[in-house]
Amino acid sequence: MLGPVTPFHLIEMFVRLTIVLGVTVAFATAAIEINSSRPLLFGTHRIVPPTLVRQYESDEFEWNEFEVRQTHSNAQNRNFFPIRYVSNEQYYQPGGPLFLFIGGPWELQPDVVLEGHFVDIAKNMSAYLVANELRYYGQSIPFDDASRANLRLLAITQILPDIASLITHLKYDVLRDPEARVILAGVGFSASIAQWARKRYQHLVQGVWSSSGMVGASTEYEDFSEAVGANIRRFGSDECYNTIFQGFGVAENLIDAGLSSTLDRMFNVCSPIKSEDSVDVEAFLNGIFNEIASQAVSVNLRETIDQMCQVLTDPDQPNGLTALSEWLTGRFPDADCLVMDFESIIEAYQVTDWEDEMLRNGERQWLYQRCTALGWPLTSRSPDQPFGRRITPNLFMQICERVFDEWLTPDVFRSLVRDTNIFFGGRRPDVQRIYHMHGSLDPWRYTGVRNAYGDSYIRLIMNATHGEDLASISEDDSYALRSAKESVAREIRRWVYQNPGPPPPF
Ligand SMILES: *[C@@H]1O[C@H](CO)[C@@H](O)[C@H](O)[C@H]1NC(C)=O
Ligand SMILES: *[C@@H]1O[C@H](CO)[C@@H](O)[C@H](O)[C@H]1NC(C)=O
Ligand SMILES: *[C@@H]1O[C@H](CO)[C@@H](O)[C@H](O)[C@H]1NC(C)=O
Repeated sequence: MLGPVTPFHLIEMFVRLTIVLGVTVAFATAAIEINSSRPLLFGTHRIVPPTLVRQYESDEFEWNEFEVRQTHSNAQNRNFFPIRYVSNEQYYQPGGPLFLFIGGPWELQPDVVLEGHFVDIAKNMSAYLVANELRYYGQSIPFDDASRANLRLLAITQILPDIASLITHLKYDVLRDPEARVILAGVGFSASIAQWARKRYQHLVQGVWSSSGMVGASTEYEDFSEAVGANIRRFGSDECYNTIFQGFGVAENLIDAGLSSTLDRMFNVCSPIKSEDSVDVEAFLNGIFNEIASQAVSVNLRETIDQMCQVLTDPDQPNGLTALSEWLTGRFPDADCLVMDFESIIEAYQVTDWEDEMLRNGERQWLYQRCTALGWPLTSRSPDQPFGRRITPNLFMQICERVFDEWLTPDVFRSLVRDTNIFFGGRRPDVQRIYHMHGSLDPWRYTGVRNAYGDSYIRLIMNATHGEDLASISEDDSYALRSAKESVAREIRRWVYQNPGPPPPF
């Protein structure tokens, strides 16, 4: 039996959770609360690795910078800018491999070279550990401001040569060992970069551990809401799922009946829903969906879904719609009102000053990458999910076009997404020596590879969340999780020891 939940218990529980879940496990961004009196109920669902609680000694790691070319595709442009990386040489022995954890759409934190399973493997193999920051994120910034024009070099085709140059620099100038073997790891989009780096530069990268890698670009990502719905059924209840289903259904009917002002009041929106404008209606419904989804993708999803469902299925709630509005407004006790309209979303993403929170947290940059290469509009058109029927790719495409200018029409968007899959192979990339891991509870897992060939592996870890495999082996691991971690460690050892070092390219 659980005792009464006193604040002390809550604190204790929080501390325990953060320690157990440690470094590597990731969480999703929910509403954007730059101004807590007006939270913006929109987000690009970046999943970022949280930072550690423990303080590190400064001699355990070192910050560095490395100059890369602003553009790798124009010989006449000789501008350079520094990308940051952090290294940990504590475990390195001459002759050992180089382990590089690839940066994703977030600011670089030293945690990834200090703790977690990748670090444990590095320790075992006397590896030199490095993690880099992705161009345009954190402090690795190529231009004075983030105007639309200046975002043009935020492209996979520019990121990959950054990685190749960095690896070469580390091998030749830092380790002074041209034969050093190189292993990459990453999580989510950073795992995609790791995979593509191996595909492109097989002479530089001997193997990749891809945790929840997202490589199949798409112009609509329906599986997301289905997977969120399934998580809600599993860790909440059928009743909770049905409450959401009912709430969305009633909301859509009210809008159709010209009664959207009822919703304005119930959800305390800052700007009334423009019920004649389908994109504004989608933005409102997406606002509710976005907040529920953030509860169902985090690493603590078993707890967060349970807590949400307790409120949603409270027997005092007369119906699904009131349950949704009470839960949603109750999440923002400090808010004057909730921002859920299309125009406010556009305005929030149009900022260009690097000091602005929307750039420091990577939201604008990540939206640009989604709009110009990756896609994944989250929608509610599948019959097998509870979030109504109205959220379509049109909302996402309209946001892209308005935030990043008129050239980015829906047709251009679709062709850019298609190009990404043409250039990198989408979900069937046909590359050897990649270990693909996905948690069965991760709603992003359907963007991962479908088939692995030859010396590559796919492991679906039952009952695991996005990136859960990155944490150190622990007594709390399920059998499936533990065996996946042991298996990737074995493969990395084999890739390093059984494959001859690459010949020096020059
Ligand atoms: C937050 O929004 C309120 C209006 O709801 C406004 O008065 C206040 O100035 C805003 N604060 C900041 C820091 O922008
Ligand atoms: C590395 O791991 C292997 C396999 O678990 C083990 O046999 C070996 O002793 C470890 N080596 C070091 C230096 O920890
Ligand atoms: C799933 O994982 C949770 C937490 O790790 C655990 O409590 C639960 O028993 C697991 N369920 C199954 C079916 O493995």
